[in-house]
Amino acid sequence: MEKPRKKFIDVIDKAIIAGKALDHDEKLFTYKGTFYPVAFCSLEVFRAMETFEARSDDVILAGYPKSGTNWLGQILSDLVATCEKKRPDEAKNVNDEELEEFPYLEIGDIEKYERMKKLPSRRVILTHLCPGNLPKSVFKNKAKILLLIRNPKDVATSFFHFSNKLPALPSHKTWDDFFAAFMTEKMPWGSYFNYISEWNKYATDENVMTITYEELKENRPLGVKNIASFLGISLTEEELQNVVERSSFQSMKKNSEKTHGALGSMLFRKGGVSDWKNLFNEEQNEKMDKVFEERIARTKLGSKLKYDVYCK
Ligand code: A3P
Repeated sequence: MEKPRKKFIDVIDKAIIAGKALDHDEKLFTYKGTFYPVAFCSLEVFRAMETFEARSDDVILAGYPKSGTNWLGQILSDLVATCEKKRPDEAKNVNDEELEEFPYLEIGDIEKYERMKKLPSRRVILTHLCPGNLPKSVFKNKAKILLLIRNPKDVATSFFHFSNKLPALPSHKTWDDFFAAFMTEKMPWGSYFNYISEWNKYATDENVMTITYEELKENRPLGVKNIASFLGISLTEEELQNVVERSSFQSMKKNSEKTHGALGSMLFRKGGVSDWKNLFNEEQNEKMDKVFEERIARTKLGSKLKYDVYCK
């Protein structure tokens, strides 16, 4: 991904400074019943976001925090940029720093949505929002949605470590404290279980493709190929292979200071499956297994998550 990342790094730096000035209990606020981090989101921006006009060729990458959204964001942007580069007339603005926006839809300033009107297609837009909190035009205009899901035990593990490193998020002294919070609604961007339940209602829509972190981890070349085909992007084997190589954990971690600034060392942690085994005790396993069974197991996304393979 050769696009400029200055704005990305600026937003992160500002959120780190803002987060450091806040006490633990001041770090979250609610909007429409969901908690969000004050250092990244605001009521004004949420209101301005209602004016966002989605396009039918937009690619919206939706994923609960810590599901691998930066990873899939890299793959998507790389696929789109590689495809655009093959059209010399369209490629002029691709590296224009002025056209850069922070990739997560709900993070930015109130003028962001006006500026986004000028972005050339295809726009790749990331979000941690539940479908009900996305601007209506996303569904009305049939933007393509790539839904990324990851097993809840690894999400919780990743979130615990990340929250303790990033001052913009409430930190937790112990894993037990974090686990207790994770099982409630009081998490940045809300509860994992609500998120999966809500997105489950859209999982069979023709504009929605679901992919799991674990399947991408097991076979990245196949994942990249399937995503390209969902987006109608036609690349040579060699071009696809380059996208695959540039999205390896090692390659992204190596470039992370350039692409993610101070966030890089917090974000690219282990990049694997089953690290939860180092944190969960028996009682926590039982608690999560029960909630998963009650709320998610018998849904389409529930079976996609292969809970018995990755969480038992
Ligand atoms: P871990 O904390 O388990 O290592 P998000 O981008 O949604 O915040 O998700 C972050 C998680 O995705 C982190 O998980 C991070 O290491 C992992 N990740 C980032 N890039 C990756 C890659 N190229 N391959 C595998 N995992 C990656």
